[in-house]
Amino acid sequence: MTTFQGQRIVLGVCGGVAAYKAIELCRKLVDAGAFVSVVMTRSSKEFVGEATFSALSSEPVWSSLFHERDAIPHTRLGQAADLVLVAPATARLISAYATGYSHDLLTNVLLATRAPVVICPAMHTEMWEHPSVQDNLSVLARRGVHVVEPEEGRLAGGDVGSGRLASSESILGEAQRVLSLSPKSNTTDNSDRAVQSEREHPGSLEGLQVLVTAGGTREPIDPVRYIGNRSSGKQGHALAEEALHRGALVTLITTAQIATSAAITAVSVETAQQMHDAVMSRSEAADVIVMAAAVADFAPTQVAAEKLKKRDGTPVFEMHPTVDILAALGSCKPKGQTLVGFAAETNNVRENAQRKLQEKQVDILVVNDVAAPGVGFEFDTNEVAILSAAAQDRVVPLTDKRSVAAAVLDAVVSTRSAQASVPSSGE
Ligand SMILES: Cc1cc2nc3c(=O)[nH]c(=O)nc-3n(C[C@H](O)[C@H](O)[C@H](O)COP(=O)(O)O)c2cc1C
Repeated sequence: MTTFQGQRIVLGVCGGVAAYKAIELCRKLVDAGAFVSVVMTRSSKEFVGEATFSALSSEPVWSSLFHERDAIPHTRLGQAADLVLVAPATARLISAYATGYSHDLLTNVLLATRAPVVICPAMHTEMWEHPSVQDNLSVLARRGVHVVEPEEGRLAGGDVGSGRLASSESILGEAQRVLSLSPKSNTTDNSDRAVQSEREHPGSLEGLQVLVTAGGTREPIDPVRYIGNRSSGKQGHALAEEALHRGALVTLITTAQIATSAAITAVSVETAQQMHDAVMSRSEAADVIVMAAAVADFAPTQVAAEKLKKRDGTPVFEMHPTVDILAALGSCKPKGQTLVGFAAETNNVRENAQRKLQEKQVDILVVNDVAAPGVGFEFDTNEVAILSAAAQDRVVPLTDKRSVAAAVLDAVVSTRSAQASVPSSGE
């Protein structure tokens, strides 16, 4: 895969309810360093305003074949593009593109470009399943157009079914993958990418998919109460912001109600099981996973259906161990992925951490002694030791959590470089 930095991307937006989601895509691409030219169909302006796209992309939106600021906008846009991404793509656009019916700017750009094309259909289930739509998509796929299939879910008008625009993570992930296949991009392997990125920008995580977890999980005991912990999520959020700052595509799975940059894909969860499911469904695509969340070790076996009352006596809770997310990730870690765990300890800090580093098969373990003043939970400051399986251990004295995040991500970069320079067996 490659980075969006410096890539010229035409973002085509069609007239469907999902047009508003193209705003988030535009924002994320721009934040990741892409030059985005937005081409809106006339219908799309019934759904979203062009001023938003102009402001985000820092250039006026393109929408007409004629009377634009360029005499022949379709060829200029099409020829200059590294990638054309259409999201959402309507049934109308798919049909026009498949048949070459080029009556508006977007279909002209699609025919005029030699760049790879990714289209992301979104429509009601009946339309999506219609043979004409499926046949048109087959034609396009045969011609090498990349299709990001819609998902199941809530549709306009309260209906539920397939046809909902794919998530921005899936769309941007596919766009990155497709860009990495094009001849302009000459890196194909995670390790190569890490080395090249590090050579170009020390400490950079440009183009890498970084998954971060944050906050303490909450295990319900009845509809209004839960067993939780003191983790505020500040360290995890600082890590996500720092990774974004270094050019990564960031997904943050969090229990904390802390505002994040718009370019971060934030997923809200509450329990250890929800965090497990959210992490595992995204882990394979991640180049770096930083498990900063404080995940409960035990959860009540029974959750009372109604609020527990004092008059019913003192409740006794049977607990069961929760799923071990870090161990699950360590046991199925894909080649080239860097896994970072966090350990909050109150005694035998170093020994416990060393054991965890080995047992859970993580590359880096960030350990803090949460019994020390100003350290860890709820504070804005932290003091950590960063233990690494492949690079030098490092102690970060008491400092703000963003600086700790920077030190952790420096360790990630060093570890990836060290791992990339070790020849694998058979070489
Ligand atoms: C409220 C509303 C929602 C619509 N949503 C979709 C949609 O999600 N997908 C789709 O293919 N067409 C949808 N349509 C129909 C398109 O807007 C219509 O086919 C239009 O001609 C598409 O134009 P365009 O492809 O040039 O953007 C919708 C129409 C309306 C009125």
